[in-house]
Amino acid sequence: MTIIQTPQELQELLKNETQSIGFVPTMGALHHGHLSLIERSVKDNELTIVSIFVNPTQFLEGEDLDKYPNKFDADEKICKIAGVDILFYPQKEDMYEDDEIKVIAPNIRGFVLEGAMRPGHFDGVLTIVMKLLNIVSPTKAYFGKKDAQQLSLISQMVRNFCMKVEIVPLETVREDDGLALSSRNIYLDKAQRKEALKISSSLKKATQTVMQGNLNVKEIQEEMEKVLSPLNVEYISIVSRAFIPQKEIVIGDSIILVAAKLGQTRLIDNLWI
Ligand code: PAJ
Repeated sequence: MTIIQTPQELQELLKNETQSIGFVPTMGALHHGHLSLIERSVKDNELTIVSIFVNPTQFLEGEDLDKYPNKFDADEKICKIAGVDILFYPQKEDMYEDDEIKVIAPNIRGFVLEGAMRPGHFDGVLTIVMKLLNIVSPTKAYFGKKDAQQLSLISQMVRNFCMKVEIVPLETVREDDGLALSSRNIYLDKAQRKEALKISSSLKKATQTVMQGNLNVKEIQEEMEKVLSPLNVEYISIVSRAFIPQKEIVIGDSIILVAAKLGQTRLIDNLWI
C-alpha cells in the first residue's frame, strides 16, 4: 500500500492509470462501516483508493473538529489488511488555499434536517468531495446510507455537474444490539451508550408500525417519540428520497431520519423504506 500526501503526487501517480478505480473518502477512525465500503470497492475494482482527511470546512464553530479522533496508525493497518492500494492522507494546507471557490448546497435538500441544524456543513462536505473526486477521478465512489442526506446531496452534485463517477450507496453497518457504527460513538460513556440504543429502537418501532400497515407519518413520529423519550431529540423526520416531507409513507420512496444528542455527542441514524 502506498501512502500519498499531496493531490499533485496522487494525480501524477494516476496520470496514465487505465484500471478501474474504486474510491472511499473518509475522515478516519475507521470502523466496520467504513470497512464495508472499502471491502466492496476492493471486490469491484482493480485499484482501491481510500482518503483520510478530517475536513475542517464541514465543522461548525464549537463542533468537535479539535477532538475528532485521530487513529492514523490503526487506520493504516486496517487499510493494508483490507487490500487498499493507495491511502491518500493530505493535510489542510494540501487541500485548501485562502478565499476559495465553494460548492453551495441547494435549498431543498441542503437546508433541512442536518443542513438546518448545521448551517454550512453541507457546503463544506460538497466542496471537499468535489475536490477529492477530481483528484482521484474514480470509476466508482462508495458512500454509506448512514449519512443519507450527505449521500443524496453528493449524488445530486455528481448529476448537476455532469461528473463521470458512479456513486455507490451501501447499507448502514450496526453493532449487534442495533446502534449504528459511528466514529463519534467513542465519545459516549456507559450510560449514554445504553441510552443511544433508543435511536435504533425507535426506527425498529417505525418498521413494525409500517409492517402493520400504518403509513401515517404523524402517528409513526408519535410512536417514535415515545421510544426516544427522554432523549434530547433534535428531529424525527420522514421525507421522500428527494428530502421532501411526506404525510404518508411511500414504500420505496421514504426515509425516516433521527438526530439526537447524548451530552455533547450528536448521533444520527435513519431507515430507508
Ligand atoms: P466519515 O464520517 O468518516 O464517513 C465516511 C463514509 O463512511 C461515509 O460515506 C459514511 O456514510 C460511511 N459510514 C459511516 N458510518 C457508517 C456505517 N455505520 N455504515 C456504513 N457506512 C458508514 O462522511 C464523511 O466521513 C465525510 O463527510 C466525507 C464524505 C469523508 C467528506 O469529508
